[in-house]
Amino acid sequence: MFRTALCELLAIEYPIVQSGMGGVAGPELVAEVCRAGGLGILAGLNVPPDDLRKMIRGVRGLTDRPFGVNLWLHKALRPPIDPATVTEETLRGVQAMLDRFRERLGIPKTATRPGRAPDLVDAGVAVILEERPPVFSTALGALEPRLAEECRRRGIKVMAMVSTVEDARTAAADGADVIVAQGGEAGGHRSVDGKPASPEAATVGLMALLPQVVDAVRVPVVAAGGIADGRGLVAALALGASGVLLGTRFVATRESMASEVYKKRVLESESGATTVTDVLTGLWARALANTFTREYTESGAPVLPPLVQRGAATDVYLAALKQGDPEYSPMMAGQSVGLIRDLPGAGEVVESVIREARAVLEALPRRVRLA
Ligand SMILES: Cc1cc2nc3c(=O)[nH]c(=O)nc-3n(C[C@H](O)[C@H](O)[C@H](O)COP(=O)(O)O)c2cc1C
Repeated sequence: MFRTALCELLAIEYPIVQSGMGGVAGPELVAEVCRAGGLGILAGLNVPPDDLRKMIRGVRGLTDRPFGVNLWLHKALRPPIDPATVTEETLRGVQAMLDRFRERLGIPKTATRPGRAPDLVDAGVAVILEERPPVFSTALGALEPRLAEECRRRGIKVMAMVSTVEDARTAAADGADVIVAQGGEAGGHRSVDGKPASPEAATVGLMALLPQVVDAVRVPVVAAGGIADGRGLVAALALGASGVLLGTRFVATRESMASEVYKKRVLESESGATTVTDVLTGLWARALANTFTREYTESGAPVLPPLVQRGAATDVYLAALKQGDPEYSPMMAGQSVGLIRDLPGAGEVVESVIREARAVLEALPRRVRLA
């Protein structure tokens, strides 16, 4: 037994949540985490509604344990920003920069405007409301009270990820059942709506952010960012969290859908290897620095609006992926990369985090003497 308020609320055995990471968390990863007693979350980002439904049913075919489905609610996706709003000059600057990378990868240069991304969020929400997974995990955007209410009526618990105390208060007031406090160490995008002028406001470290979020809301709080083992779980519990959410740790697991070169980079990287940048997607995200992020940033080339940037660079990312080249595709990862050196099954991650946490808790009274 290793139970907290989060376990009671979500009917899970252990207070460990696997992030619904876009492009990484499919049914196999989710089911394996659930089998081991954690909460697996399916990635819904950029997934068309019929596929999302299939993936949800796929999880149900593999496990009867509770699981979640993740969606971004960001306003840049609802509807997606129209690339027609970009000036010719900006477009030229971006394409000239990307052409450098295209040339090296041996793919055609282009000066054309990227197409508008498909509008998928509302359709994804509709699938979730129909399919009723036990948990709806939201990120990068405001949870409307009406949506929270619809989830409540259907017995779906809402877990909202935020990176500021103010957003935690708002999400709790708007009906979130669980708040995920995302510290600045976290891999992937900063969980904020819009795009702050600099990432500073949304990259407060977990040690400072977590206790403030715990004080600000009455619902259980889950800690995210920089946690990859049992020591991190105990530290988060000491700061008032009811559980932890791990992203980067689960990228490097056998069931993760990340490419082999990406997993290899995670295993080889130290914590200083990550950077917070907007050149990959147009929104602030923590990723492993590579030739793409370094040269783009140093060049001073313009960056397109949120997610239009990703659309423009998609041919570069796909070519790099196909060629097994880690230098020209996004590899989202947090500062916990320095703690990750093996490629276990996802269930083993849950089991080892709990085993280590128990050992830490047992050893603490010997290490700390209270007078
Ligand atoms: C590869 C990757 C993809 C991610 N994709 C998503 C996503 O689609 N939705 C989401 O809510 N969070 C996503 N995140 C962020 C995580 O939810 C979480 O904040 C973060 O992984 C926690 O920090 P850690 O990586 O140090 O464990 C992603 C993180 C990574 C590393």
